[in-house]
Amino acid sequence: MEPINKIDHLYAPPQDFVDQAYIKSRAEYEKMWKQSIDDPEAFWGEMAKNLHWFKPWLKVYRGDFGIGDNEWYVGGKTNIAYNCLDAQIAQGKGDKTAILFQGEPDEDCRSISYREMLTAVCRFANVLKKYGVQKGDRVILYMPMIWQLPVAMLACARIGAVHTVVFGGFSAEALRDRIIGSGAKLVVTANGYWRSGKQVNSKNIADTACILCQEQGLTVDHMIVVNHLKDFDTPWTLGRDLSFEKEMAETDISDVCPAVPMDAEDPLFIMFTSGSTGKPKGTLHITGGYMVYAYTTFKYIFDYKDNDIFFCTADIGWITGHTYTVYGALLNGATSVIYESVPTYPEPDRFWQIVDKHKVTIFYTAPTAIRSLMKKGSEWVEKHDLSTLRLLGSVGEPINPEAWLWYHQYVGHGRCPIVDTWWQTEGGGILITALPGAWGLKPGSATLPFFGVKPVILKPRPSENADPIEAGIDEEGELCLASPWPGIMRGIYGEPERFFMNYYTQQPGFYFTGDGAKKDADGYFWILGRIDDVVNISGHRIGTAEVESALCSHPAVIEAAVVGYPHPIKGEDLYAYVILSKEIEGNETLRQELVAHTRKEIGPIASPGKIQFIHEMPKNRSGKIVRRVLRKIAAGDAAGIGDAMINTLAEPHLVEEINQGRIV
Ligand code: WTA
Repeated sequence: MEPINKIDHLYAPPQDFVDQAYIKSRAEYEKMWKQSIDDPEAFWGEMAKNLHWFKPWLKVYRGDFGIGDNEWYVGGKTNIAYNCLDAQIAQGKGDKTAILFQGEPDEDCRSISYREMLTAVCRFANVLKKYGVQKGDRVILYMPMIWQLPVAMLACARIGAVHTVVFGGFSAEALRDRIIGSGAKLVVTANGYWRSGKQVNSKNIADTACILCQEQGLTVDHMIVVNHLKDFDTPWTLGRDLSFEKEMAETDISDVCPAVPMDAEDPLFIMFTSGSTGKPKGTLHITGGYMVYAYTTFKYIFDYKDNDIFFCTADIGWITGHTYTVYGALLNGATSVIYESVPTYPEPDRFWQIVDKHKVTIFYTAPTAIRSLMKKGSEWVEKHDLSTLRLLGSVGEPINPEAWLWYHQYVGHGRCPIVDTWWQTEGGGILITALPGAWGLKPGSATLPFFGVKPVILKPRPSENADPIEAGIDEEGELCLASPWPGIMRGIYGEPERFFMNYYTQQPGFYFTGDGAKKDADGYFWILGRIDDVVNISGHRIGTAEVESALCSHPAVIEAAVVGYPHPIKGEDLYAYVILSKEIEGNETLRQELVAHTRKEIGPIASPGKIQFIHEMPKNRSGKIVRRVLRKIAAGDAAGIGDAMINTLAEPHLVEEINQGRIV
């Protein structure tokens, strides 16, 4: 039979999938969802009983959701590392593979059992303690995708230290900001890692970041370095730098380290993410609620069963890697694949080769990866046996129906449901998604809210005092959330006012997501992308304000405005409009210099794809840059700039002038 391959088809889950699924119908889901909204304490109290607590909670929830005040499992004591390891071993999973590490060189492959993981975590926790790390201290993990990264995360969690994982693609300057922002005294890194056949020296970047920190008065006391690349020349600062392998092997380091009973609301990690204003913010996640939410979403959304092999391709430097590669997977006693490098090395079939080799059953990736692999041709997928796959997932940005169909047909062979999971760093875990056995899928829709989540689509507020108005069916609006769930962030580290201002003032009484969305007649949600000044490049969240400030720190630049524009593979890319100092001429050399400058200030992910030199910004009469005009021009849709928009400009002729110089 020809596979169905149509955008407007409802893709029902195959019967054999439904038969084995936890939730088998929309009616069954509706009943549970309603209970989770009507009586969240009963619902989340029950879910939390699946985990180990040193001391039970006194109250499941206390708070005022609409102003960002949330406390879950009040008075309860637990430890997430204990739940990820000791509790699994107690259930007989000691010999099961916890982490399956696949290096870029194919032969560099290692399985680490739950028992081995526990020993490594305890030993590393003892190393951290030896160097003075205590409960509440922050530790920076600037590490590539290697098995020692989850070891370091769980070691922190075991002793109550707060980890901040920094994505390996960030520059020394960006790393400095995160070290200073979290006030960490200890950094864990690797001497380097493999990327497309080349060895990348990450230790150098960490060294530079430490020097930059010193300039601002913060001293990193210790840097623990994993010797991941063999025979690789690694610079060494005596007294500060410590070898991971050597420290782990010391005879005074014990295999045993008791897990500290943590208050449910004690911090677990800080994850920096971009917002629409200022520097990246340190999203603060805590122990108990995050743990219950990671566990529950992983179980139901990936419909996890004991013999599954889970492969999430997201870097652990982002929230998806935290919640699903590490915590969600291990809390469920799963085997989680960690892959060091890119999908296209040595050839564009690396993901499929890994699925085949490790018999992956659940595969979770980003639309940008699907689009880039789709472009290489389906023959790369067809070379491999993907018959073990039973479920696919998508995350990070809206998935366009073409990519969805290709993923469904060539990777899933029409037999695997696709969970299109919408969420964000702030949420801790997936918020809108299909439950794969429970209802049919529409390509491009994330479908329905997870338990405890109540999304509402509100019309933009016409004035300060206006009441919230819900958008109608198929009407676009601002996606807000109206009910408490345990995984929500508890604040922005060190900036309490910014937390309230960022999320609770746009639509008072609601959590504002920053995304546009609509809901169709079946109740399915369609996420339409960011409506604030955040751009989603290949699933990486970048605030345009950050890139503007990086550009403005270059001596030739007077003013910069950065917007997103649609990109066929990356989803979106950055378009920068730059005004130069009078005496400076905008040429190709300078353009390249500005790209290099943003790479240095932030990292390669933030370098603008296009830079246009202009003489004046289109501003309104009160002097504010009208970004909507710039967005339209960048997207090649100057014709779509209506008279109403032009009339708001102080100098309407600029539209034509800027459009003529548009970089195609
Ligand atoms: C976008 C990543 C559409 C969205 C987990 C959100 C999505 C931002 C989806 C958060 C999806 C994520 N469909 N858009 N399935 N998943 N997004 O914090 O704009 O890195 O606000 O979290 O990514 O990005 P973040």
